Amino acid sequence: MQSSVKKPTDEQYAKFKALVENQLGLDWSKEKKYLLHGRLNTRLFELGINYDEYYKLLIKDRSNREIELFYNFVTTNKTEFYREPALFNWIRENIIPALREEIVNGLREKIRFWSAGCSTGEEAYSLSFETQALAGMLSDVSNGYKILATDINTQALVAAHKGIYNQEDIKNVSHPILNKYFIHTPSSGNMITTYMIKDLIKNLIQFRILNFLDKNYPIATNFDIILCRNVLYYFKDDVREKIFEKLIDYLSPGGYLILSGTETGHRIKSATKIRPNIFKKTH
Ligand SMILES: C[S@@+](CC[C@H](N)C(=O)[O-])C[C@H]1O[C@@H](n2cnc3c(N)ncnc32)[C@H](O)[C@@H]1O
Repeated sequence: MQSSVKKPTDEQYAKFKALVENQLGLDWSKEKKYLLHGRLNTRLFELGINYDEYYKLLIKDRSNREIELFYNFVTTNKTEFYREPALFNWIRENIIPALREEIVNGLREKIRFWSAGCSTGEEAYSLSFETQALAGMLSDVSNGYKILATDINTQALVAAHKGIYNQEDIKNVSHPILNKYFIHTPSSGNMITTYMIKDLIKNLIQFRILNFLDKNYPIATNFDIILCRNVLYYFKDDVREKIFEKLIDYLSPGGYLILSGTETGHRIKSATKIRPNIFKKTH
């Protein structure tokens, strides 16, 4: 759609920057005016309003419908299956054998993982493919194995929940995993080739909306692994520090908080850094 919406002025941009920083924690201190316009101009054109009017609409939005759309527009959802394969190798080699041993020795009855900032689901699904055997070992225990996957972007969550991916999306998924956990529908007519996650995997994952800035998270469990990769990187420093501490609170003793391989150099008071991007809660 062609848009003739005027670009935001510095004043207009400042209001949206404050909104994004206060409501989502994202750091927009480096000029993001073009990003704002790139993401929003079509919406403003549809509504036939300018940036001032759109800001007022957001502030007065009692239904939260437009705010929800706004969050969907301004968040960045890039993700992929097995993003950073080295991390999945590390989990395979270091975490899974230890969990397996605890189950075999009767020391563990449940496993809880959290993909925090899950986008369209690829991270949670990759983790579930790797740990499916553990789910099988706990199948006698009701809710023995569960993955929680959360995000603020509702459009991404709908896609995650559907679990339908295209040829490009599955490029990092090995053939054995594809054959085991996806239903492949080849292209026909004007329908493109799709790969749908099987229910056996989908049923292990709960996708839910959660804003990291919320005071209380509606989560009543502790986790063995929290993956929070490529999320807090975009946040303001002070907000990020607080969320790190909060995430550590949600770990079981011995649990791991895992950031992406590029998110190094952080310190978390209440956890031990065991790799540049991995923290362990020791007690
Ligand atoms: C770049 S994606 C990362 C996806 C995945 N973790 C990965 O590494 O591939 C970042 C995700 O963080 C989410 N996000 C941004 N701000 C958030 C907030 N305040 N609360 C919850 N999720 C947020 C975005 O919607 C987006 O889906």
